[in-house]
Amino acid sequence: MNRTRSLLHVRTVAALLALALVLAACGQNMADQPRVGAYQATPFLEGGTSMQPLPDGVVAREFGDVDPAFLTGQDPDGGQLTELPIELTTELLLRGQERYGIYCAVCHGYDGRGDGVAVQRGFPQPASFHEQRLLDASVGYVFGAATNGFGRMYGYASRIPPEDRWAISAYVKALQLSQNAERSDLPADVLESLESTEGSVR
Ligand code: HEC
Repeated sequence: MNRTRSLLHVRTVAALLALALVLAACGQNMADQPRVGAYQATPFLEGGTSMQPLPDGVVAREFGDVDPAFLTGQDPDGGQLTELPIELTTELLLRGQERYGIYCAVCHGYDGRGDGVAVQRGFPQPASFHEQRLLDASVGYVFGAATNGFGRMYGYASRIPPEDRWAISAYVKALQLSQNAERSDLPADVLESLESTEGSVR
């Protein structure tokens, strides 16, 4: 009995000792080691600054050597892109609709009028996408806002990959069209099928 007890005692002491050793290794050493931060002056590097120019031939880590307009939404000739830099397909719009529902609708609303649930609960209200100013805005403008943020809205560059930001931007333009279309904008076959069901549609 006594032997068992003392064995337990020795084990407890050994365990505590091991724990103490492990905890002793927890420190701020890694964080506190000498290093230069971003934008910091340093006599060790060229130009006296920690921010060094990129060596020639460096390419974006994410997608390799891709068109900067695709990543930024900026037209190399100035202003924002007025056309999608990728092919417009039904799949792209459906993807955009799905992603819009996930990322944007909470504030901008599913219909783009700016009264999503976060706004109903106190987040600042964005302008409706159906205002003339935003109806006139290019697809690159929407992409730019989604990428860099806009005023009180944070950017999504780190959360949504560029293809999806384009899909969302294309969908926003389609959403605008859908809410501001005339009967005469509809293709003949769609109009016909609508008219044949009109009695049942309110
Ligand atoms: C948390 C709420 C919130 C979310 C989520 C959000 N936005 Fe916004 N957005 C805003 C607000 C608020 C503004 C207006 C900001 C201001 O004027 O300071 C805005 C502005 C914009 C504008 C510019 C409108 C103008 O008046 O010129 C665009 C375009 C836009 N958002 C697109 C998007 C897209 C696309 C998404 C999804 C990827 C998104 N937003 C997600 C709140 C949000």
